[in-house]
Amino acid sequence: MDSIQRLGSLVQAQFDAYNWKIEPKRLYAPIDYFLQLGGKRMRPILTLMSTELFNAKAEIAIPAAMSVELFHNFSLIHDDIMDDAPLRRKKKTVHEKWDLNTAILSGDVLLIKAYQELAKQNTKHVPELLHLFNQTSVEVCEGQQMDMDFEKRKNVSISEYIEMIRLKTSVLLGCALEMGAIISDANEKDRKKIYSFGQDLGIAFQIKDDLLDLYGDPEKFGKQIGGDVIANKKTLLYLLAKENATPEVLKKIAKLEKIKSKKVKVREFQLLFMQLNVPKMAQTYMDQYAANAMYALESIQVKQENKTALIELSAYLMQREN
Ligand code: IPE
Ligand code: IPE
Ligand code: MG
Ligand code: MG
Ligand code: MG
Repeated sequence: MDSIQRLGSLVQAQFDAYNWKIEPKRLYAPIDYFLQLGGKRMRPILTLMSTELFNAKAEIAIPAAMSVELFHNFSLIHDDIMDDAPLRRKKKTVHEKWDLNTAILSGDVLLIKAYQELAKQNTKHVPELLHLFNQTSVEVCEGQQMDMDFEKRKNVSISEYIEMIRLKTSVLLGCALEMGAIISDANEKDRKKIYSFGQDLGIAFQIKDDLLDLYGDPEKFGKQIGGDVIANKKTLLYLLAKENATPEVLKKIAKLEKIKSKKVKVREFQLLFMQLNVPKMAQTYMDQYAANAMYALESIQVKQENKTALIELSAYLMQREN
């Protein structure tokens, strides 16, 4: 069985066994609902893969892996409020199914649960894990704020965008991986390298997310198609379009941004970006970051066969449809 499946099942078994309290219902039912929807469980799988990369047993890193996934789910519940998103994992978002206050508080509990899980790791590792986790959580919030600020800003550069997605998305992948390295007592150099692998992979991952947001198959993607365009997000697609636009095209973009009908706005942007060859250009950026991630992985001093799982997971993430 390949490692993605094997470690995915290990993570799933933990979630199946997780005993959520029942009362108050409006606090715990949304959490249960959201976690049942699953998702790719990519971050805990990364923690477990990194633990195995450095020759330790995946099982010893389960609390850290759980904690990263709980944190991720907390961030999604709050992100969906911030992005006014109706759909997640093919189902209604928590604030749509319940309401805003419910989504805020259920998200908060998930964040605290993430810390509770982390505290279950071997005590000798907890201080270092906590330091990394705290730093990462603050950075994710910084990235999220930049993402919101950019909605209102006219001019955002591609390097500002890359810094924004590094913070909102990729530091958590780096963190998930470095946790595995800490738990398996990898040396300082390798810890930095696996973090850097995660950071570049995370940037590529977020670019893929931007591409899927506009061009994904609605049956498979599980989120509202065109949500980024509707919210005037400064995605890589948008920035590349502006960078390559003639004055007329710039005028057209400004006009499209004001369209009230969501359906028309999304369709018009899909067409325009396609005419400008934007998806191809974004793909090139994505491939470059994925390649950088591979260089970082190559430089880690462990047996080549230990790297197979991470190489396969990276390839899957770049080809995914959801
Ligand atoms: C969504 O993450 C948020 C981003 C950083 C793009 P995932 O695509 O990993 O979401 P799930 O957990 O699989 O649903
Ligand atoms: C999400 O970015 C980053 C975090 C949740 C921290 P997006 O807003 O693009 O994620 P999706 O597309 O809603 O999953
Ligand atoms: Mg979102
Ligand atoms: Mg967002
Ligand atoms: Mg997105």
